[in-house]
Amino acid sequence: MPTSQATTPSHNQLDTKAQAWSALFSEPMSDLVKRYTSSVFFDKRLWQADIAGSLAHADMLAAQGIISASDHASIQRGMAQITAEIESGAFEWKLDLEDVHLNIEARLTQLVGDAGKRLHTGRSRNDQVATDVRLWLRGEIDLIGDLLKELQVALVDVAAQNVEVILPGFTHLQVAQPVSFGHHMLAYVEMFKRDAERMADVRRRTNVLPLGSAALAGTTYPLDRERVAKMLGMVDASGHPVVCQNSLDAVSDRDFAIEFTAAASLCMVHVSRLSEELIIWMSQNFGFIKIADRFTTGSSIMPQKKNPDVPELARGKTGRVVGHLMGLITLMKGQPLAYNKDNQEDKEPLFDTVDTLKDTLRIFAEMVGGQLNPATGKKEGGITVNAPAMEQAALRGYATATDLADYLVKKGLPFRDAHETVAHAVKAATTHACDLSELPLAVLQGFHPQIEKDVYECLSLRGSLNARNTLGGTAPAQVRAQIARHQARLAV
Ligand code: ARG
Repeated sequence: MPTSQATTPSHNQLDTKAQAWSALFSEPMSDLVKRYTSSVFFDKRLWQADIAGSLAHADMLAAQGIISASDHASIQRGMAQITAEIESGAFEWKLDLEDVHLNIEARLTQLVGDAGKRLHTGRSRNDQVATDVRLWLRGEIDLIGDLLKELQVALVDVAAQNVEVILPGFTHLQVAQPVSFGHHMLAYVEMFKRDAERMADVRRRTNVLPLGSAALAGTTYPLDRERVAKMLGMVDASGHPVVCQNSLDAVSDRDFAIEFTAAASLCMVHVSRLSEELIIWMSQNFGFIKIADRFTTGSSIMPQKKNPDVPELARGKTGRVVGHLMGLITLMKGQPLAYNKDNQEDKEPLFDTVDTLKDTLRIFAEMVGGQLNPATGKKEGGITVNAPAMEQAALRGYATATDLADYLVKKGLPFRDAHETVAHAVKAATTHACDLSELPLAVLQGFHPQIEKDVYECLSLRGSLNARNTLGGTAPAQVRAQIARHQARLAV
């Protein structure tokens, strides 16, 4: 009767009691709580790691005589089918089953019966999820390593084509000294090289096995954790298995996720700095470079516009990744040992960090270096350099003033006095609205009698560039040596 249904709110709960966690629970979760606590719609991306971890665990359980060989075979068969189902899109992910782990385990039991129920022997979702995230992240770090390499190769290529191109180097965004555009590109190569090193270092601490720690205290079964680690490739450089040494730490540690996001943030900061320069360089007031049209957009009202949307978005997305770092580090700060459900919140920031970084690196490698044209075997459509505009800009702003000071030092003046003398010369040139190199010799000699005709060599942009021939300096000879070093390092 409708009236009795309306007055008996527990009716529904009784009907769905079977969906409660276990016999211990007197009522199931409400839909709202289910939605709030479930993670399956984002953590399902861990499925391959989850299955790999389960297969390694089952293999070890069988080797240790904890489950039978036939149960092991059933688990393998079930997992093969689940893999096929997920790959083909046929797998039905259920919100009711909370997360990727329970979804896969429930399907396994449906397929192979009791063997599926035995898989969870000596294991908890706490060590399971920690293992899955580490395995997944390890694979992503490897992909990011490849992308960082591609971006470095693209930057080295641009550097190699522009060793002799001179642009004004800035400090405080004021013209400072002439530098080779190749040298400028190599500054970013150094940054991305460090990023790659940081990623490799994070990988070492990520590639450690939590599984076998069970819920928090270890387990009563005679597990062989090192066997599992070996099977999952969680080994050090000499092939020895690397296993988390404290069960409490193993299930609750997310340092690797924070470290990764910190390394990703720094990498994005480097991309963001490069973006800022590309944006400035392609503005009409500079006109130093162009990027291919496919990385820009027009305006709906101003027909003349070509906006650098890709670098601008990368600069913006840097804030997003740094935000994820803040999120993750704050997630951990108040947690008592060992596992807490808070940790489920590690996934979305981590996933989004990986997605954002990978897309950004991929797009930048292409935007900077261009795309391979299979017909010519050459890359096309990378950044285009306007060398005359760069040189013209370097001629405005007295970029060679330091060279004049150095010239006087070589004639015996103390540097501070030379600095002051040149300041007077710059002031005079400003009054005449000309470059230092355009001041007649007689005028220059008025500032110091030891100035001779050879001064014009050091006042030229090229002379200034060539003179900075110390290790790490901008002289073309140095830049070429650096390019060769990077090319050797990056060679596949
Ligand atoms: N979905 C959970 C997570 O991401 C898995 C671990 C759940 N463990 C637990 N005891 N509730 O952290």
